[in-house]
Amino acid sequence: MARLTIFGAGYVGLVTGACFAELGHDVSVRDIVQEKIDALRRGEVPIFESGLDELLTKNAERLRFTTDVRDALEGAEFVFICVDTPPLYSGDADLSRVWTVIDELPAETSATVVMKSTVPVGTGDKVRAALDARGLASLGYVSNPEFTAEGTAVRDFLHPDRIVIGAFDDSDGNAVEALHTGIDAPVVRADVNSAEMIKLAANAFLVTRISFINEIANVCELVGADVLRVAEGVGLDHRLGPHFLRAGLGWGGSCFPKDSMALKQLAANSGYHFQLLNAVIEVNELQKRRVIQKLEKHIGKLRGKTIALLGLAFKPHTDDMRDAPSLVLASRLLAEGAEVRAWDPVAEPELQGVTLFDTPLEAVTGADAAVIVTEWPQLTQLASEDVRSAMRHPLIVDGRNLLDPAAVRAAGFAYEGIGRAVSPLDVLPETAEREPELGR
Ligand SMILES: NC(=O)c1ccc[n+]([C@@H]2O[C@H](COP(=O)([O-])OP(=O)(O)OC[C@H]3O[C@@H](n4cnc5c(N)ncnc54)[C@H](O)[C@@H]3O)[C@@H](O)[C@H]2O)c1
Repeated sequence: MARLTIFGAGYVGLVTGACFAELGHDVSVRDIVQEKIDALRRGEVPIFESGLDELLTKNAERLRFTTDVRDALEGAEFVFICVDTPPLYSGDADLSRVWTVIDELPAETSATVVMKSTVPVGTGDKVRAALDARGLASLGYVSNPEFTAEGTAVRDFLHPDRIVIGAFDDSDGNAVEALHTGIDAPVVRADVNSAEMIKLAANAFLVTRISFINEIANVCELVGADVLRVAEGVGLDHRLGPHFLRAGLGWGGSCFPKDSMALKQLAANSGYHFQLLNAVIEVNELQKRRVIQKLEKHIGKLRGKTIALLGLAFKPHTDDMRDAPSLVLASRLLAEGAEVRAWDPVAEPELQGVTLFDTPLEAVTGADAAVIVTEWPQLTQLASEDVRSAMRHPLIVDGRNLLDPAAVRAAGFAYEGIGRAVSPLDVLPETAEREPELGR
């Protein structure tokens, strides 16, 4: 069994650390945020990730947490870089935290450096050159991108679709591959540039599928088709498959927006206009805003109206608010002059102008519309008598096609999904008295 040091106790670092400990390795996790490390030492997990708590507790004997670099690196054979690489204003990935880690490695380090953070193609070459320049030429360098999805990250890590290993030197790649013994998955061995590109291309392809089905949904609305049936029929084609064909109000999160933007900029910086990816990103920006038109269709201008946003995290089973579509939606509603109430079971963001409530029922009380922004399972029973009588207008805009439109309508609500056929039942009596179109 090996000794691993993980830099970064975030979503990826903690899952990586806990899972490698589960595989039997000794792991020390280093972060620069003292409170995070203190919490982890007390046995508290600073993020919400299904199954992580249990795994950290189960493997506590093989896990150490520290803020001190030398302490973290004691006896380390592998250094995993799992720090954040957020977008810069230009859309390029900000690698400053990666470079800090490289600079922090003491001269006597003998560990192989493994990059799990998502980085632009060419980063490995630059890190290799920087290590060489620092007299650390003997250190191995391996790109081992991470494909886990938040909410299912522990399962994804232990049962991945594939493990990607890009190395300058085969023996370094072999050593990193051996760390994964116990995980049954195909291993893709590649050069470092290709390994880096696999990660970016995979995310770009996933968002392309979502934006594609969202556009199909938008056309479905115009021509009277139902995108759920369309996606089912399309997805059963073995050449296409069913995944990432769920229409909704747009994709977000800590990875998709920044990684697609980073690939777009990487291409542009290299002299290539990535036309398809540009369109995919733009479709998503427009998709997040379409909810406004759907609300206005039913309740008229939104100034003075009360809208309840149900679900704020970028997807269910996580508390991650990074680039969540709810942020754009809340801002658009506030800009239209609406009052915004919101509920999420785990995310508790401080959103200026938005009032948070503990239950969906409290959030929808007095609301002119409820918008399902994140498909939390708690919302499957939303179309209840309690909710209907608590709302000023019984209108549900189902931004994730979570509910059965017929059942919602039968329960006395107007329903608007994404790419669903429209029903005459959906016209609220009040829409006849819409406010006049006042200029703003
Ligand atoms: N979140 C995901 O599901 C996911 C999935 C695949 C890949 N990734 C990629 O993995 C990387 C990490 O993502 P994340 O979501 O875990 O980020 P995160 O923000 O949750 O965690 C990063 C952690 O690194 C710490 N850090 C910063 N500088 C450090 C340093 N010098 N030493 C030690 N720790 C330091 C931060 O304090 C933070 O706790 C990113 O490049 C991301 O794109 C993320």
